[in-house]
Amino acid sequence: MQYDDNLTTERPTFVTHLECSETGEHYAADQIHNLSRTGKPLLVRYDLAGVKKALTKDSLAHREPDLWRYRELLPVRKVQDIVSLGEAMTPLVSLQKLAKKLGGAEILVKDEGRLPTGSFKARGLVMAVSMAKALGIKHMAMPTNGNAGAAMAAYASHCGIKTTIFCPEDTPEVNVSEIALQGAAVYRVNGLIDDCGKIVAEGKAKVGWFDTSTLKEPYRIEGKKTMGLELAEQLGWEVPDVIYYPTGGGTGLIGMWKAFAELEAIGFIGKKRPRMVAVQAAGCAPMVRAYEEGVEHARRWEDAHTIAAGIRVPQAVGDFLILRAVRESNGFAIAVSDDAISEGLNELAREEGFLMCPEGAATYAAYKQSLADGRVKKSDQVVLFNCATGLKYPLPPIKKTLDRHKPIDFAAL
Ligand SMILES: Cc1ncc(COP(=O)(O)O)c(C=O)c1O
Repeated sequence: MQYDDNLTTERPTFVTHLECSETGEHYAADQIHNLSRTGKPLLVRYDLAGVKKALTKDSLAHREPDLWRYRELLPVRKVQDIVSLGEAMTPLVSLQKLAKKLGGAEILVKDEGRLPTGSFKARGLVMAVSMAKALGIKHMAMPTNGNAGAAMAAYASHCGIKTTIFCPEDTPEVNVSEIALQGAAVYRVNGLIDDCGKIVAEGKAKVGWFDTSTLKEPYRIEGKKTMGLELAEQLGWEVPDVIYYPTGGGTGLIGMWKAFAELEAIGFIGKKRPRMVAVQAAGCAPMVRAYEEGVEHARRWEDAHTIAAGIRVPQAVGDFLILRAVRESNGFAIAVSDDAISEGLNELAREEGFLMCPEGAATYAAYKQSLADGRVKKSDQVVLFNCATGLKYPLPPIKKTLDRHKPIDFAAL
């Protein structure tokens, strides 16, 4: 066996076409696309009957544990186009102490901080960049709250594609630095992510950048979909009762929902679906408001603010897809305060030794809140998404020091 057969073995691929998520109109595969003619995200469709014949649970079990093990359900046709930095399968970590404290049955965290560039954005961007390579795209641009830009810069530099990236001016320093160090031209913009998105759209019109904004190209969803594929496989081809997903643009939530439908179509899972919970911050909760108002599209959230920068997305192009998945799954959308996020982050670190990112801690805060208000049961098996390593975020300074020249009172340490 090679060091990783998934990266070197040609496997059959099954993409048939792309489809407008609103009208169902078909678009040709293997061509450059952004949004559909009606301005909505395009979804990749597969010959699932063909996948069913080609792929068995047993053959999958013998493959290397990384994202590329699911090639038959991914859009990249040839191994020469795979742009990999080592997309390892991420572990499910059980929080037994906190589960006991809350009286809950099982809290599992899918720890996405182990991926290249330290966040789950690697999943979406490895697919978008690989497809860009396959389609001959030379210059990609993106608005980002940080992690997505870092992932795009890394993969694009790895394969020689140019990148130009815009982030809100208060984006964490570490994100802006990693984007720049990984070869992108990066600019801070005095506005929010959707203001950055307008600059990308203008650059696309004026100088032909490829717009890689969330859901404005079809392949990031396919990469994020692997969270659902992996999760089901790790649980023995079962799905959990509830999934808490920190929702900004919602690619992962939409992607996982798509993954479960495809897994059912190829006979790998049954009809059961997890309840999908969209977690947002109280200072930026357009999906929660739309969910509560019972509407299909979400209005822009004005004056968006939260310490969880990754979910500070005032308006999402895939709003109706997020809300559809939440409602069809009998899930809900829930907002948590920044105080609850900080408290959750500290509790997880102190009691479980698990340093999450604020967006991941938001899912834990949301779980506690919904356990308390009865929206989930103690007997439910829940999966929280820690979408980035906590080490990427500013940490509080620790001021305790010890003078080694003075006598040390060891009993007091
Ligand atoms: C750490 C983190 N969590 C959550 C999100 C939101 O992800 P999505 O756009 O899939 O909703 C982001 C997006 O930037 C992020 O960086």
